[in-house]
Amino acid sequence: MGRIVVLDRNMVNMIAAGEVIERPASVVKELMENSLDAGVTKMTVTIEDGGRKLISVADNGCGMDAADLANAFEPHATSKIKTTADLMGISTLGFRGEALASIASVAQVRAVSRTKDSPGGNCIEIDCGSKGAPTPCSADCGTTIQVRDLFYKLPARRKFMRTANTEAGHITEQFTRIALARTELDMTLVSNGREVYRLTGNQTLRQRIAELFSSEIAHNLIATESSEKGLNLRAMLGKPAISRTNNKFQYVFLNGRFIRDKFISHAIKEAYRPTLEPNRFPVIFLFIEMPFEDYDVNVHPTKIEVRFYNSNLVHSQILGCLREKLLGTDLTVDAKLSAVSAGSVASTAGSGDRSRGINDAMAEFFRKHRPGQTQRQFNFPGTTGPKTSYKTTEHQTELLPQRKFMQIQDSFIVAATGDGFVIIDQHALHERIMYHNLRRRISGGRLQSQKLLIPESFELTDAQAEMLEANAELIEKLGIELAPFGPKTMAIQAFPVLLAKAEPLDFVRDLVDLLDDTAGQNIEPDKLLDEVLNMAACKAAIKAGQRLNDSEIEQLLADREVVEAAGNCPHGRPTTIKFSISDLEKQFKRT
Ligand SMILES: Nc1ncnc2c1ncn2[C@@H]1O[C@H](COP(=O)(O)OP(=O)(O)O)[C@@H](O)[C@H]1O
Ligand SMILES: [Mg+2]
Repeated sequence: MGRIVVLDRNMVNMIAAGEVIERPASVVKELMENSLDAGVTKMTVTIEDGGRKLISVADNGCGMDAADLANAFEPHATSKIKTTADLMGISTLGFRGEALASIASVAQVRAVSRTKDSPGGNCIEIDCGSKGAPTPCSADCGTTIQVRDLFYKLPARRKFMRTANTEAGHITEQFTRIALARTELDMTLVSNGREVYRLTGNQTLRQRIAELFSSEIAHNLIATESSEKGLNLRAMLGKPAISRTNNKFQYVFLNGRFIRDKFISHAIKEAYRPTLEPNRFPVIFLFIEMPFEDYDVNVHPTKIEVRFYNSNLVHSQILGCLREKLLGTDLTVDAKLSAVSAGSVASTAGSGDRSRGINDAMAEFFRKHRPGQTQRQFNFPGTTGPKTSYKTTEHQTELLPQRKFMQIQDSFIVAATGDGFVIIDQHALHERIMYHNLRRRISGGRLQSQKLLIPESFELTDAQAEMLEANAELIEKLGIELAPFGPKTMAIQAFPVLLAKAEPLDFVRDLVDLLDDTAGQNIEPDKLLDEVLNMAACKAAIKAGQRLNDSEIEQLLADREVVEAAGNCPHGRPTTIKFSISDLEKQFKRT
């Protein structure tokens, strides 16, 4: 007997299912995408037990007649490619006509559909590949596909499903991606009878983000767009203050499809580098539109990865667009004061309980910057009511010429502005200014240095000495002069003027550590320089707890006006929180 057998059709479908249908969320994705293709304005996704028991997607799209309904579950059945001429064009969209066949080979499926011009609908049932005949039934226009007991005949696959909560989380994620890409649609997600989302159609992206995530996120996004060389970009950039510890809030869409791409991630990371600490990830929603022929979607079974034919162009355009916007925007965090009920004002004022009313943002701010201390001078009754923010024009943010500032606890500066006041973290702001100055000076050559009256010596290992040698160019650029000073000892002979406030010895020790940490990581010279300058800025900056005189404060406030990205320190923490008069008026019930 020959060893080669031809696999039966259901087996082929099951193998295809293995590629496309990884878990309940994959079914949801395929069904939702089919609904989108059917031109819906409304769809409802219902799941039970994390989709393990039931997944149902109901839409009001074009529907299918009895013959199409039967055909739809055949492998390689698609209405999206008709001729070989279509194939070239449309195959770029990744239609393979196998999703429904695959799903129906590993679950119990019931599909009901009715076209717009038909008085009634049809229904068909498929149980793990064995298909019944379509029968007439009553139905609304559109299609509903129910998938029960996924993988029930495949214990090995079933075992790989996670808890209902985890699977529901993956489904929510798929739903979210489509909801972001298609804000014009009415979309509902119901899980175990509970409405998770009910999104009305024709929302703005910001409104949709507020519903899907939070109003805090929606509130802290900066919109930007660009259009060049056939590549259109539209982005909502999260301010550094809402950055995350992972990249899950990085939503990138290519012609309406969610994708993950390492070039794009890199461009985003680069664009945010001056405003974020290296281990933080921005929140970002990025929509790219470009001709289908400029990329290939058939490199990944679920089309989540694509291959750009000119990835350099994509990278540079995204980087350029985002960077320009981030540098040109005041990233200051808006203080979030909220409308207060009369009761809470009275109780706060009456009881003298100062800490209770502190607004979220303020509490967060003071917790971060002065652990263990609560700021007493400024207490705002906060509630969980709707958050408001106040845009100021450039003119309004300009600091007034008269002396209108004070330093509190030798750490924060409160300064009047045209339309309110700001609270500045003196260290964070000065750090940003130092970084800016260092960057500017070093781009023009090397930092100006000054000889130390008494050279300061330090010990180092052979490996460290070698490393300093290897980085001689960088050290020279910084304006640091080192010379051997006996066995395993070096002396600092000159130090940059700009870093006069830093301790040379302390600085060079940390520089050695930093070079040590990054050795062997093949870091680009410019990135390494950036890290060094970050460290330098931090060390040379005014510290928290340092008393400043009026002219020092004036200098700081003046510098603030000219420095790019003054709203955040180089690590991405805020330097400034704004309060507007209209905010205060609301708090005091004057309006
Ligand atoms: N919700 C729906 N409304 C209308 N037609 C649908 C729907 N879902 C599937 N179909 C039809 O079934 C066909 C097969 O779907 P599928 O197996 O996902 O393959 P593909 O989407 O790649 O064409 C589609 O081409 C479409 O004609
Ligand atoms: Mg499909």
